[in-house]
Amino acid sequence: MSTLTGKVAVVTGASSGIGHAIAESLLNQGARVFGLCRKIGRIPEAATPISCDVRNPQRIAHAFEVLQEAAPIVDILVNNAGIAYLSSLIEGPVEEWDEMWEVNVRAMAICTQHAIRMMPAEGGRIVNVSSLSGHRVPPTGGFYSPTKFAVKGLTESLRNELKAANLPHQVGSISPGFVDTPLVNSYFRGREDDLSALRESTRMLDPEDIARAVLHILEAPPHVEIGDVILRSADQKV
Ligand SMILES: NC(=O)c1ccc[n+]([C@@H]2O[C@H](COP(=O)([O-])OP(=O)(O)OC[C@H]3O[C@@H](n4cnc5c(N)ncnc54)[C@H](OP(=O)(O)O)[C@@H]3O)[C@@H](O)[C@H]2O)c1
Repeated sequence: MSTLTGKVAVVTGASSGIGHAIAESLLNQGARVFGLCRKIGRIPEAATPISCDVRNPQRIAHAFEVLQEAAPIVDILVNNAGIAYLSSLIEGPVEEWDEMWEVNVRAMAICTQHAIRMMPAEGGRIVNVSSLSGHRVPPTGGFYSPTKFAVKGLTESLRNELKAANLPHQVGSISPGFVDTPLVNSYFRGREDDLSALRESTRMLDPEDIARAVLHILEAPPHVEIGDVILRSADQKV
């Protein structure tokens, strides 16, 4: 039996890519999974859907109220929902910056606040999905990369607050390079030749590679807190 059997896990953005794979792997370990996203019909069949546009703080609050009725204790939160546009700082558009900030950063903080209130006295675990772009700025980093640097700040700031408040919950992050998901298409929108070249030169990671690493964080013994895991394709150049 896995240490995750029977745990209650919330995965944001469970309808696609990395979040879908994380939800599947938690279900395979016997966890009870709640998927927060807009396209709830696409989450793994055995997960419980909670419809939520995480850009809207009231919708997030409502989603956690719905969750509380079904499962008063939350053991695990995986903050995975994210958007990537190649949005230049010189040219914008600002609307894309807003969406990336609200989904990649603000929603992560709000979901965390709600989840912590529902975590068990013996301690829950939070995993924030960051990116290699939160560790180094690629030439096309635009506004996306700064949102992932903010995830690093959020993760470390939360860890400080949890320690100061003597709360036993653990927080860590995972920072993948290119993963073959629909997000890559939106990041390369308008630069399809670059995406084709990337596909030819690089065997991107699969969402399941990330899910395995998330399980590693979540299954670590209680005295081990994994701060961040960087994963990239063995042949990713930058
Ligand atoms: N793919 C990569 O190369 C890569 C690399 C490093 C880091 N990441 C990070 O990994 C995470 C997952 O990305 P992915 O590659 O799996 O992308 P994806 O396949 O496009 O999935 C994105 C997920 O985010 C959810 N989401 C987006 N906006 C939302 C909103 N307003 N409200 C609720 N949910 C929302 C989507 O759900 P709905 O549309 O159903 O709402 C979807 O489930 C992101 O944080 C991303 O930055 C990805």
